Amino acid sequence: MKIGLIGGTGPEGRGLGMQLGLAGHDVVIGSRYEVKAIETAREMADTCGSEEASSRYSGADNAAAASGCEVIFLTVPYAGMTSVLHSIGRHLRGKICVNTIVPLEFVGGQARNIAPPTGSAAEEAERLVPEARWVAAFHTVPARGLMRPGSRLNTDALVCSDDPEALKSVMELAHEMQGLRGINAGLLENARYLEGATALLININRIYGAHGSLKVMGI
Ligand SMILES: NC(=O)c1ccc[n+]([C@@H]2O[C@H](COP(=O)([O-])OP(=O)(O)OC[C@H]3O[C@@H](n4cnc5c(N)ncnc54)[C@H](OP(=O)(O)O)[C@@H]3O)[C@@H](O)[C@H]2O)c1
Repeated sequence: MKIGLIGGTGPEGRGLGMQLGLAGHDVVIGSRYEVKAIETAREMADTCGSEEASSRYSGADNAAAASGCEVIFLTVPYAGMTSVLHSIGRHLRGKICVNTIVPLEFVGGQARNIAPPTGSAAEEAERLVPEARWVAAFHTVPARGLMRPGSRLNTDALVCSDDPEALKSVMELAHEMQGLRGINAGLLENARYLEGATALLININRIYGAHGSLKVMGI
């Protein structure tokens, strides 16, 4: 599959892109700046540790990444979500779009969820581009582990969507990543809990000086 990461030059986009390339997909790193995207893709090819996978990473501006790929990951900060969707929205029609965005602010060293009026960033994106097949996932999977080829993640990707086929496809993508398990987290409206839980997770990690993630026990 050809997979584009919008804002893929940051840690989350690089990490997910790294894993998807190692799993055998063609990965297009997107950026507002084509040169930065190409440079990031080159760095990923150099560090992925697999000659076979190294040919799978390329870079393009966000619009070209969105128009040229079958599945799109949105990996920009919440502050950039609306402007990015205005610029690439027409390329997302009918495509599976995976929203990883956690709307956060830091106040006095504490992470706080910015609750959008729609309830979640995921539902806000769906309102902005209703023609896309929206899935929200990977919020609680830290970029740090994803970026390291060869490390086993041993965590869960909680996946939610109103489109059962799109949800299944993204769960399968999660399963393809090293040590990651995709968990069906129900309808897209559940993204508000995933986004909020991520703020809590960041605060717990700060207290313990750790890099913990979430895993559902008993499933
Ligand atoms: N980091 C994590 O561990 C993690 C885990 C789960 C979910 N997430 C979510 O994933 C998303 C990306 O996280 P990140 O840590 O990779 O973020 P980041 O480094 O701050 O941003 C990622 C990329 O987004 C682009 N960008 C930045 N500001 C923008 C704006 N105003 N408009 C359009 N594009 C902009 C930049 O790419 P260009 O300059 O190349 O365009 C940047 O490299 C966030 O929404 C975050 O909540 C992160």
